[in-house]
Amino acid sequence: MRHLNSLAELSTAEIKLLFSLTAKLKAGVNKGHRPPLLTGRVLTQVFEKPSLRTRVSFEAAIMQLGGSSLFLAAKEAGLGGRESIEDVARVLGGYSDIIVLRTFSQKLIDDFVDHAGCPVINGLSDLRHPCQALTDLFTMEEVLGSIAGKKLVFVGDGNNVATSLATACAAMNVPFVVCAPDAYRLPGSFIADLKLRYPHADIVQTKDFKSALADAAIVYTDVWTSMGQEAEDEKRRKDLGPFQVNAALLKQAPKNCKFMHCLPAKRGNEVTDEVIDGPQSIVFQQAENRMHFAKGLLVWVLEQEGLVT
Ligand code: CP
Ligand code: NVA
Repeated sequence: MRHLNSLAELSTAEIKLLFSLTAKLKAGVNKGHRPPLLTGRVLTQVFEKPSLRTRVSFEAAIMQLGGSSLFLAAKEAGLGGRESIEDVARVLGGYSDIIVLRTFSQKLIDDFVDHAGCPVINGLSDLRHPCQALTDLFTMEEVLGSIAGKKLVFVGDGNNVATSLATACAAMNVPFVVCAPDAYRLPGSFIADLKLRYPHADIVQTKDFKSALADAAIVYTDVWTSMGQEAEDEKRRKDLGPFQVNAALLKQAPKNCKFMHCLPAKRGNEVTDEVIDGPQSIVFQQAENRMHFAKGLLVWVLEQEGLVT
């Protein structure tokens, strides 16, 4: 049974397969084709945190494929101690063909993987956001053609999105730079593990914008304060202020460099209006692709369960 909990579960060949399936399904939608590959299949989503893109893209994806979805806020599902996580996972797994979870703790998703008895997708935890990172590299490929060797510079907080991007970039031979203050870098232990799996991974952490941006193909940023970190907001805004992606920063990158953001954006913090609404921005293509990628992922995972018609 295949899950998407961590990107470490996927080989480079499998990522490429997912991208070609996504591209095929997207091309079909644009021609008005919505093949009912998942008729009668049930997707359950359980979220502890708010979501626009992840929740709605998975709902739209399964509906376009002929299946149905249901959504539970974590409290309604009883994840707050009404019964054990193992029991909730086993019960929900009995009703569902696939489950998407969005949680604070990574362990909760790990527990679902162990007990649900059906495929489980990580729809973001404090540690990771694998569906976002894969969609982002798919989008990068759509815009730039071949992506191997094209540098992605992540500016700001080395958070869950940055962590998953680092892994996806290593798998796809995309040089990855985190441009952040020392305290906001990806943990050394994470980089060490990544290098064990991908010894040739080209990954750099620096505060030096000039060198980072000189040959960037993509400049990427995310919010400075992720969901769950609201108490640190003031400090984060102060520490990360110099890392705002504004017109002056983007000017240090090549003219054809694109700007990406997973959204939601805090305009005026990590990015200015002129950048996110400017000609180099591809953020809304990126957001739309969450749905096309969700379709590719649902079909690929459920194909392995013999559930694609
Ligand atoms: N990018 C993303 O995951 O957005 P949501 O938080 O709205 O799902
Ligand atoms: N880093 C952000 C991503 C939101 C999609 C968060 O975790 O809140």
